[in-house]
Amino acid sequence: MSATFKALQVTQTPEQQFTQEVVNIGLDKLPPGDVLIRVHYSSLNYKDALSATGNRGVTRQFPHIPGIDAAGIVVNSNVPQFKPNDLVMVTGYDLGMNTWGGFAEYIRVPAEWVVPLPSDLTLQESMILGTAGLTAALSVNGLIQQEITPSLGEVLVTGSTGGVGSLAVSILAKLGYSVVAVTGKSKSHDFLKKLGAKLIINRSEIDEQTGKPLLKERWAGVIDTVGGNLLATAIKSTQYGGCVTACGLVAGANLTTTVYPFILRGVRLIGIDSVQCSMDKRLLIWSKLAAAWKPTYLDELVTTISLEQLPEKISEILQGNIQGRILVDLR
Ligand SMILES: NC(=O)c1ccc[n+]([C@@H]2O[C@H](COP(=O)([O-])OP(=O)(O)OC[C@H]3O[C@@H](n4cnc5c(N)ncnc54)[C@H](OP(=O)(O)O)[C@@H]3O)[C@@H](O)[C@H]2O)c1
Repeated sequence: MSATFKALQVTQTPEQQFTQEVVNIGLDKLPPGDVLIRVHYSSLNYKDALSATGNRGVTRQFPHIPGIDAAGIVVNSNVPQFKPNDLVMVTGYDLGMNTWGGFAEYIRVPAEWVVPLPSDLTLQESMILGTAGLTAALSVNGLIQQEITPSLGEVLVTGSTGGVGSLAVSILAKLGYSVVAVTGKSKSHDFLKKLGAKLIINRSEIDEQTGKPLLKERWAGVIDTVGGNLLATAIKSTQYGGCVTACGLVAGANLTTTVYPFILRGVRLIGIDSVQCSMDKRLLIWSKLAAAWKPTYLDELVTTISLEQLPEKISEILQGNIQGRILVDLR
């Protein structure tokens, strides 16, 4: 094992700019923790791009190594439940936020954050899924818990070409739901059809501006990944007894609505959090993702890059221009 490791480091300049550079760092600089992991794969999520560009809501201390996802092999551990050579993954908690993260050849983390790799998942597959897959699956699980079955009608997915969105489309289609995918990308219709979307609509079609409190009932369920007015419009168009999950804010953090969808149609709005989600629930959802919920077309979803290529992709994800998932190969 070398005494240094390669990582994408974000540094704050005296002019309050944030620079991203691949550097070699001493292993002794890793934070304290129970388990040292040689990272084989990480992935790029929207939150990583916020961290890498100095968003204080995500990361307060610089220099910093972003990366909220990591999968790899245990090098050493001071807890009995993990042993050298175990295959493991870490998503969420404080990884890549204020603890150095997965855009590095090594991470050191508390044992409570570490998930044993399910036997039917490879390290590579686990990071094609990553936080986005866990979040998409938690959203699908939310609909199922609220008894939204395929026979009730169409399920809308917003931000459908993004990480969470494309995996939500894939999982829902695999489970037999009739998926309507919303996108701002006219060139991605074939991609969404391949993942299993029955119908693709443009963002502008669900961006209602009249301020009407209710619209024609359409969706049995909604998986929203963008927030803002698209979420507000989706809630107004949800069927009697339908359910909407909310996990993201790329279109805005504000939600302007009335109580009418909730008190006249019994619509339910469920928040999704993959960061602090309990370990029991994580293990349950990952076991589904490794088996019946594993998307059929993972290969179609992924673009594989090196650490050196991350800055370009970080800029693209902030502009909403990524299709599917970005896998970072650190082997
Ligand atoms: N709650 C949680 O635990 C959790 C976990 C993971 C992610 N998230 C959040 O979920 C969101 C999506 O994350 P992600 O990693 O999937 O990001 P992503 O890969 O960048 O996907 C976001 C997608 O949203 C659409 N979009 C972008 N800008 C938009 C805008 N201004 N208005 C409407 N749609 C827009 C784009 O898809 P189209 O072009 O197809 O419309 C884009 O590809 C982020 O807000 C992220 O922070 C939350």
